[in-house]
Amino acid sequence: KSVKKLRIAIDGPAGSGKSTIAKILAKLYNLIYIDTGAMYRYAAYLYLKNNQNLDIVINMLKESEFNFVKDGETQKLKVDFHGESKLYDDELRTVDVSKIVSKVAKNKDIRIILTEKQKEIAKNNSVIMDGRDIGTVVIPEAEVKVFLSATPEERAKRRLKDYETKGIKISYEEVLEDIKKRDEEDVNRDIAPLKKADDAYELDTTGLSIDDVVRRIKELIDKVY
Ligand code: DC
Repeated sequence: KSVKKLRIAIDGPAGSGKSTIAKILAKLYNLIYIDTGAMYRYAAYLYLKNNQNLDIVINMLKESEFNFVKDGETQKLKVDFHGESKLYDDELRTVDVSKIVSKVAKNKDIRIILTEKQKEIAKNNSVIMDGRDIGTVVIPEAEVKVFLSATPEERAKRRLKDYETKGIKISYEEVLEDIKKRDEEDVNRDIAPLKKADDAYELDTTGLSIDDVVRRIKELIDKVY
């Protein structure tokens, strides 16, 4: 097996399948999976916890150390803050956090802090990182770049399934509306908007199985690695 460093950037809108695919590829190629959305969700979670005060959130993020740790089949965000260590997962995936996260992710200071921490992780490790601006801003030098898409309706169906699995009650219409609103905010923001990198491989996953998507990306990886 090659010991060459491998960095894979996966970008795309909510529900395009990024995290599902990234987790599988991480296992196959022994890469650290970095879910940058979880870091923005953590910022949104802090925002809701601290009376929607962005200054508090910004100061807390500066002093937080982020790691991703395995927990059975899933992976959790580990935050070390002022000597205290805590794991986050379900609390970052609530409907409330999902509704507010794009607004928080627009903030310039928050993006600067989190982008810097993401770059630092990518510098020292072989990683698969997913998000909105990985191929364009965080790891423009990534060996493999993928941009996943799917129709809003298909993505809403997938997200609804995730919520159902977690026992969260929400209607298809509400999920679809949230997804469309987030797309709009993520694509149109000034800093690091959701955008396909020029050299990224674009894959519309509508109607494709997880296996189909993994196979296509594996072919791409095997060309360079
Ligand atoms: O991938 P996700 O749905 O967990 O991401 C949550 C939000 O975080 C998404 O709506 C936009 C923001 N985000 C971002 O702005 N940049 C990233 N690299 C990752 C996520």
